[in-house]
Amino acid sequence: MNRTTDDDVVVCSWNEWDPLEYVIVGRADGAMMQAPEPAVQNDLPEHGFPLGTFGPMPEDARERAGAQLDALADLLEARGVRVDRPAPLDFSREVSTPDWTQGSMAMCSAPRDVLLTVGNEILEATMSFRSRWYEYLCYRPLLEQYHRADPAFRWEAAPKPRLTDATYRPDFFREWESLSAEEQRQRIERSDWIITEKEPLFDAADVARLGKDLFVQQSMVTNQSGIDWLRRHYPDHRVHRVSYVEPLPWHIDATLIPLRPGLALVNPDRPPIREEHHRLFEQNGWELIEAPRSARTEKMPLCLCSLWLNMNCLVLDPKTVCVEATETPMMDLLDGYGFEVVPVPLYEVSAFGGGLHCATADVHRRGSLEDYFPKQIEGF
Ligand code: NVA
Repeated sequence: MNRTTDDDVVVCSWNEWDPLEYVIVGRADGAMMQAPEPAVQNDLPEHGFPLGTFGPMPEDARERAGAQLDALADLLEARGVRVDRPAPLDFSREVSTPDWTQGSMAMCSAPRDVLLTVGNEILEATMSFRSRWYEYLCYRPLLEQYHRADPAFRWEAAPKPRLTDATYRPDFFREWESLSAEEQRQRIERSDWIITEKEPLFDAADVARLGKDLFVQQSMVTNQSGIDWLRRHYPDHRVHRVSYVEPLPWHIDATLIPLRPGLALVNPDRPPIREEHHRLFEQNGWELIEAPRSARTEKMPLCLCSLWLNMNCLVLDPKTVCVEATETPMMDLLDGYGFEVVPVPLYEVSAFGGGLHCATADVHRRGSLEDYFPKQIEGF
């Protein structure tokens, strides 16, 4: 249903580029380097977290990241976008379910990972890390408020996964390191990652929303069963299962970034596994621009993302895009395509879960559900 003419709309967003009117911006408060768990192997001895250790993120780094997130919220508000913020938990707490105990949680700086807004629905993703199992609680005060304010808001949650040991391939990381380049390549082609098909799993940030077409990446945190679940959940959409040449992939938003109808950024180091991916864009008149490399040569200490965070832009409307303020090559490229580029300092947040797209989640973009890919490819 297209509700965008209603005055009382709180929740509605169909794609990544319609004019942004309402957004959630993450927070860095209480952020932790999470305790070891089957899905995560952090080994950062040079920055105080050798394999198997965990603890609070360094206080000065957390303050700098928090200040940049606050400044992003202020900037968006100054441009007329309404902003909400999550309620952090005590992430240092040990948590458990009947199936497992996990030494700590993580943080709530990346609402995009957890919340998937499609039309007038927000779906809480399953997540696949035990440390992120309870992260949805940080957004519950907001979702409760939207539910009260907006009679048409559909509040949904995907089935909470059990995340028993049967959900993860044992010894995955050790085995991966021992593979030859060719064996790794074969594994990439099969999307054969750490999570099994025991239960549906997906992170919301593995979904790129382009109107009727949703591109969902199979990854270290999203399995085929999760994509099948999404396909059944959105019967009026076309859900494309996609994968790219990328070792240990997680989250699509440094690989495919739609900018406006007919234009998207793609990652030159991560071509799609299936040729139908680019053909679908091309036969529907889309231009795919290869992203330039980051202006930076070194990642921030404790950053678990790649330098391709330079692609992780936040589109404010089809003519305006926020880019991390030091990423001059990306700003120049988008300027050349006629965008007003808004530079936003967010480098400090890269160690806290990502960039501008990760750090935000749509509540409302002004627009309607459109079909940008009328010419489909059978079986893709
Ligand atoms: N894991 C990917 C996406 C991050 C938003 C990367 O590091 O490039």
